[in-house]
Amino acid sequence: MDELLLNDWHPVAASALLQPGQLHTAHLLGEEIVLWRGADGKLRAWDDRCPHRGARLSLGALRDDRVVCAYHGWQFDVEGQCRLMPAHPQDTPPKNARTLAYRVQEAYGLVWACIGEPRYDLLPFDEYGDERLRKVVCGPYPVQTSGPRIVENFLDMAHFGFVHTGILGSLDHTEVPEYDVNPYDDRLGERGMQGVIATRCFAFQPVSNLLSKDGSMVEYTYRVARPLTAILTKLPQNQEGFAEAISLHVQPLEEEKSQAWIVLAMTNSVSTDDELRAFQDRIFSQDLAILESQRPKRVPLQPGAEVPQRADKLSAAYRRMLRQLGLRYGVIA
Ligand code: FES
Ligand code: CO
Repeated sequence: MDELLLNDWHPVAASALLQPGQLHTAHLLGEEIVLWRGADGKLRAWDDRCPHRGARLSLGALRDDRVVCAYHGWQFDVEGQCRLMPAHPQDTPPKNARTLAYRVQEAYGLVWACIGEPRYDLLPFDEYGDERLRKVVCGPYPVQTSGPRIVENFLDMAHFGFVHTGILGSLDHTEVPEYDVNPYDDRLGERGMQGVIATRCFAFQPVSNLLSKDGSMVEYTYRVARPLTAILTKLPQNQEGFAEAISLHVQPLEEEKSQAWIVLAMTNSVSTDDELRAFQDRIFSQDLAILESQRPKRVPLQPGAEVPQRADKLSAAYRRMLRQLGLRYGVIA
């Protein structure tokens, strides 16, 4: 297992969908997780495996804040400790009759889990905290490829005119102007990492948002300071002085199997959440066929394995970052 991803936070669900009283399942790095919200509102994320005979806990039920296994009815409390073995109702269940609990937290409209010891805090996403912006969670979008391929596609400006013709780009404006790439500090010190930021990225957008009729040049920045998270900010800031942001978070299911989540922090007040989601769904469906066609599915990190063009400066910096971090999962080093 890749140490870096094992000890990092990953999205596993949309917060809003986890209502009390229901068991949910999620996959992460080859593990199966059962997620549930207790009466106290807090989330639990456990290995989806009963310590008795290994049945899936998610096949069971929640009863009075206890998870009841479907096989022999063992009952687990909010701490994951077994409190009742119905075959021996008088016995006190042994201490080791407990579930394997993972760390879990909620942020940016998503549920995040870490199946190891978190080495880094979540990448700060300040725009999400801006009350003037609307937040919409899009996805998850399943993709049969590795996480780094999905991040690179998000960072790629040269495909807009071809893959998203008439929406995010135009075949009449395919040139990618030079842009700047620099180190990016997430300001978390010990609990953070040095990433990369691309600024002064200009792209022609035929429909720069749902309201615009005419195309225009749009300025972007991209910041990446986690292996599988990237945030795009659209400039210029509007009259009120705030910028829209779109963040991408890849949930690594297996080395070549992922789910992408997109969280919007937008100013658009005319469209409904569903319309904004439908727009992202459409964009992502255009990326999907390309993403799943790319071979190898793992990103080759060694120079010379693929032939870059100048517009790939940002993804080249991202690959250097992954190499320096020592990522093994989803890459060919
Ligand atoms: Fe869960 Fe037996 S396998 S109670
Ligand atoms: Co795209």
